Amino acid sequence: MIVCHCAVVGDQQIAAAAAAGATTLSRVCASTGAGRDCGACVFSVRRILCESVGSEADHGLVTTSAEVDRAAS
Ligand code: FES
Repeated sequence: MIVCHCAVVGDQQIAAAAAAGATTLSRVCASTGAGRDCGACVFSVRRILCESVGSEADHGLVTTSAEVDRAAS
């Protein structure tokens, strides 16, 4: 399923990036190209990332609103 329509990035690519060690939203966006244009997909990317790596508390995955803004810019 395509998650980022601007960069044509799918959920499998996001999950693969997380599995390869991109455990923050910024890293996933940098490695896949998702979330770097209009930003509409950022929360979907974050959800898939969280599903891929488990709960935020378990993995120290904290995404601040500033990080979301940065990923979308
Ligand atoms: S849909 Fe992902 S940046 Fe636009």
